[in-house]
Amino acid sequence: MPAKRTSAQDESHIREAALVLRAGGIVAFPTETVYGLGADAFNAVAVAKVFEAKRRPSFDPLIVHVADPKDTVRLWREVPPAAQKLMDAFWPGPLTLVLPKKDELPGIVTADLDTVAVRMPRNDAALALIRALGSPIAAPSANVFGYTSATSADAVMEDLGDKIDIVLDGGPAAIGVESTVLKIEQGRAVLLRPGGTPVEEIKKYISVDVPAASAAVESPGQTPSHYAPWTPFVASELDYPDIQKQLERLHKLFAEKEKPWPRIGILLFGERKESPLFANMECLSAKKNLNEAAAHLFGAIRKLDKMNLDLIVAENVPEKGLGLAIRDRLSKAAAGKRAVDSFFDNLLQ
Ligand code: TXA
Ligand code: MG
Repeated sequence: MPAKRTSAQDESHIREAALVLRAGGIVAFPTETVYGLGADAFNAVAVAKVFEAKRRPSFDPLIVHVADPKDTVRLWREVPPAAQKLMDAFWPGPLTLVLPKKDELPGIVTADLDTVAVRMPRNDAALALIRALGSPIAAPSANVFGYTSATSADAVMEDLGDKIDIVLDGGPAAIGVESTVLKIEQGRAVLLRPGGTPVEEIKKYISVDVPAASAAVESPGQTPSHYAPWTPFVASELDYPDIQKQLERLHKLFAEKEKPWPRIGILLFGERKESPLFANMECLSAKKNLNEAAAHLFGAIRKLDKMNLDLIVAENVPEKGLGLAIRDRLSKAAAGKRAVDSFFDNLLQ
């Protein structure tokens, strides 16, 4: 049976969703970052259903969502001063903190790690749902594991509509990329995943270690390929004019060899530029605003992925503010796929 889709604005629907959770069911709900697929964090059987529905490997731990910073006493052994400072500054909001867990929390939530990731979302429906359940909600992003995250109820229905009970529709997610994940250890913070809270903001409160992209990250879910569309995908380090030059050269080569030009979609950071080189274009932010670009990112990738393209190329995005998170998602979406040159070499053979 397809999931029942209800309005997250309606209190009676929140209560209904909370009853499903209390009975051990799973519910998709809006947050300010992306949609989450939730279960009662203290019900191990319900949490197992989340892993199964999104085909998530059991080694990848979930984030637990609370409606009040005080609720972390049920989850963390203690709250060190560094964590308290960050919670005061950024909660509710897209910042997840990883700290040693209490034994009472089922091991399935944390993939048997000794720590648990917790955040308080900045979304009224999410907070109301947690309060109505009276228990923290364990929730990963509401997408099929490895695929592009869902920033709308439509996207959740596409991925999981036949596997879950209820989708609470709260409209488009305001931020559009997942929370920043920080591990707090001996008063220092290590960035495990760039996200909706810019690292520059966090550094105003605490020094943050940002591991090099190539360094092994301690976050089991940060597998190299993630957020990926089915269509071959390239995250270019070039801005649009240089991508255009690169493709014009290739286009000439195709014409000379009388090879058909592939259907290419481009994910533009800046404004739309008509060009016969591209079958489709999606623009993240005409004014090159990184917050707007983040909000449109996953929806635009999903849209291009439906257009029967041979290749999607994403324009370069600056590495500041939410740009760090966007670049992370683009490079993971491209991981394990071929680079532009080898893609075209193959077609030219
Ligand atoms: O914005 C978000 O964070 C969204 C919404 C729904 O809250 N959730 C989300 O969950 O992105 P998910 O499961 O897609 O990503 C959770 C990330 C993974 O990279 C996971 O490895 C990491 O958090 N994580 C969770 N618990 C951890 C732990 N104990 N230690 C290290 N990393 C952890
Ligand atoms: Mg995810």
